[in-house]
This record gives sequence, C-alpha cells and structure tokens, in this order.
Amino acid sequence: MAKLAKKKRSLFSCTSCGHSQVKWTGKCPTCNEWDSLVEEEQAPGLGKGVSTPSLVKNDAPLPISIVEVCEEQIDERFLTHLPEVDRVLGGGFVPGSLVLLGGEPGIGKSTLLSQLLQGVSKSTESPLLYASGEESTTQAGLRAKRVGVVSPQVHLLAETNIEKILAAAHHSKPALLAIDSIQTMHTDRLDSIPGSVGQVRECASMLMSFAKSNNVPTLLIGHVTKEGSLAGPKTLEHLVDTVLHFEGEGGSSFRLLRAIKNRFGSTQEIGVFEMRSTGLQEVKNPSELFLAERPIQAPGSVVVASAEGNRPILVEIQALVASSNAGFGRRTSNGFDNNRLSLLIAVLERHGGFDILGQDVFLNVAGGLKLSEPATDLGVLLALASSVKRSPIDPHTIVIGEVGLAGEIRAVNMVEARIGEAAKLGFKTCLLPTANCKQKISGIDIKTVPIKNVQALLEHAFK
Ligand code: TYD
Ligand code: MG
Repeated sequence: MAKLAKKKRSLFSCTSCGHSQVKWTGKCPTCNEWDSLVEEEQAPGLGKGVSTPSLVKNDAPLPISIVEVCEEQIDERFLTHLPEVDRVLGGGFVPGSLVLLGGEPGIGKSTLLSQLLQGVSKSTESPLLYASGEESTTQAGLRAKRVGVVSPQVHLLAETNIEKILAAAHHSKPALLAIDSIQTMHTDRLDSIPGSVGQVRECASMLMSFAKSNNVPTLLIGHVTKEGSLAGPKTLEHLVDTVLHFEGEGGSSFRLLRAIKNRFGSTQEIGVFEMRSTGLQEVKNPSELFLAERPIQAPGSVVVASAEGNRPILVEIQALVASSNAGFGRRTSNGFDNNRLSLLIAVLERHGGFDILGQDVFLNVAGGLKLSEPATDLGVLLALASSVKRSPIDPHTIVIGEVGLAGEIRAVNMVEARIGEAAKLGFKTCLLPTANCKQKISGIDIKTVPIKNVQALLEHAFK
C-alpha cells in the first residue's frame, strides 16, 4: 500500500477572540460570534509543549524578590516631545514596551507616527526604524517631509516580511521600532496570508520577544474594523503593554488619542489634535475649539463641562425635539449614549411635566466628541427642555450634574477643575448639584447656583 502523505495540521481560529480549535463550527464557543472561524495552517513546532524535566536539569530560571527589582528601568522613558502623546503614554515610551496604536483607515495613524518619530529623535542619538508595509519609502518619505520630519535618524524600510524587519532592527539597533501596520506583516513560519489571525498573532509575538529582549520600545499600528474592535484577534490587545486608540468623527478635523489599556500609566488621559494640511496640530485648549462655532441664543444649545480623563473639556450639546410622523418617538444621538438619552427623556417627562415620549429627539455633541460621563446628564436634560420650550439658555451659563431616576441631581467629581475651566473661558454662572455647592470653591470668579432636582433646574432656567 502506498504510504499516505503526512497530513498538514490545520486549526480553525476565531477572527474575533483568537480562540483556536481543530474542528470548524458555525459559532465560536468562546465569544459566541457566528461565522468567525477561519482555517489556518499551524507552523511546524508551534504549539508544541516543552517537557519540564529537561528544563529542570538544564537551566531553570531564578525568580528574584520583588523588592530587589529596581525602578530605574521604568524611569528612563523616551519622551516623544509631543506633550499630548507623552501624557497619554504616561510620560513617554517605556524601554522594551510594546504599544499598539489602533484606528480606522485614514484617521491619521501614519501621520501621527511620522511626527512622533521626529519628536523621539530629540530624545536619543540612535536611529529610529520605521517599517512600512503599506507605503513605499517614497510615499512615506513625502508625507514625512510634508509634516516636518527632518531628522536623519528616522530610517525608512518598505518591507512586509517580519524576519527581514527584525534582521534590519538587529543590525541597526534602533532606539524605537515602528511597524505600519501589523495587518500587512507576515512571517515565513506560517503559510497563511498577511492579516489572518495566525499571522497577526505570530508577528506580534515575534515583535514582542524582540522588544523585551533588546529593551527597544516597539509601536505597532493596527487597523480597526467598523465595529470598533482591532481587526485580527483580541489576543493582540492582551499581548501588548499599551493600547492606544486614535479616533474622530467623520467630517470633523478633530482627533482624540486615548489609552484603552496602559501597563505603565493611567488610562484616564486623552490627547486632542487637529488634522491640518501640514499634519497633526496639538490642541492645547480643546474647550476653546469645541465652543468656537456655538450659536448664541439658539434653543436646544447648552454648554457642559465634561471631564475627559483628568482634563476638563467644555463642549456644546445640541438637542432638537420635533413632532414625529412615525407614530412613535425616534431617538438619534451623536456622541452620547442612546440608552442614557431615553432615560433622561423619561425623567423629563415624569418630573418636568413635559410631553415628549412620542416625539423625535435628536442629540448632537459638537466637535465629534464622545461623552461617556454622567456629569453631562443635567446639560442634556436642559438642552432637551430648551428645545421643547423654544427658549434659549443664557450663553454664559455652564451646566454640571448627574440626573437620578427620581429627578434628583447628584454630585459629581472634579468640580473645581470643571468650574475653573469655565471661568477661564468667560462663563459667569454655573448650575451645580446642591451637594457640590457645600464644598468650598475659592478663587474662581463664577456664580454657582445649587440645583436640587429637575423642577429646580427648570424654574431657574426658564424663570
Ligand atoms: P494617514 O496618516 O495616512 O492615515 P492612516 O495611517 O490612519 O490610514 O492620513 C490619512 C489622511 O490624513 C488623508 O486622508 C489625508 C489626511 N492628511 C491631512 O489632512 N494632512 C496631512 O498633513 C497628512 C499627512 C494627511
Ligand atoms: Mg497608514
């Protein structure tokens, strides 16, 4: 009998969560996603266990006491000299860290990377290696020139093979390695196509070993799917030390940089940029920009002080309540949670005596910002009431507070910072939860009005 050719071992990997199994199933048993399993060949040697006795005999690693671990390593961070990026990173790049920068195509990731490399070049005399799998060196070079990258330390390499990139990195010993993008990279260890779950995962773990063993900070750019998750497996997010997200609403030139995960800093910080023809411009005072186009004396427009991370940002909320011809009220919101909007509409109906449940409600947060904080509730509620009453709110008033289901207004944090920002921009009055008025706020020239509940808010605003 003819000898059967040795069958290649293949696995089915979930494109959503990275789970692998030997059989195909319609639904991933780990994340319950449908039709997310794709077939992938396993690299020879991958996934094979190591027998413990051989390790014991040879050189078993020696753990050290936690108190002996010196903190020096963490202290020598590389500043990018872009204050907005440094803040989000928690004070620059940590040596040996693996950072993932995700964002939708065209949002400006490669532009940010080019500018970042120029900044990092001021922190070191070593070369910085920019490996691009998406653009030729000419394309990347032209853009770099346009956004003012002039440092000869920035070395470009148009390559998609991870082994070749790592060889180049071992040779030039860069102070920072950047990969644009992880989805275009491939390793010879797998036969599957670039961008597949296995390739993305394997390339990322090879880059991680490089980063950790050579103490080189490594930045990976990753594309994000329409649903907002990083294309490729979620395991990538677990693998890396820091996940940054670069985002912006369609049509708006504002870009926000957020840390979703950060092993070396807070995830509370955000960086604000504006995309211009000469690249990304850092926005030092976002409030001024978000309020620049505010219509004065327009019903439905209210300014709130949201605390994005540790930073107060003033932003305009616009509401429009219009009669519905659908027989039921539709709720459409941009930059604000739809469920939270429905809740506020119900509170306004019950405790404010408004009849809006059957009407269409549109809510927009100006400037493409996404608000996730309950402290902006009171402003949204007031914007809705102002639209229904067709009565504008005093343009020099700022509104802060969380709304409870019983119509009560609850205290919020960071009041001093929020009010301080408002006073700086010329606001004269602040509507504030009663509980927050008890704390002493000194040195800020603004009149605070305590608001106990929804009725008190309406009485004050429409007296
Ligand atoms: P890019 O950095 O290539 O995005 P990504 O890497 O996330 O896919 O930037 C894409 C967009 O940015 C492109 O549509 C043009 C715009 N842009 C500017 O407006 N000004 C500039 O200086 C640059 C370089 C790009
Ligand atoms: Mg790009």
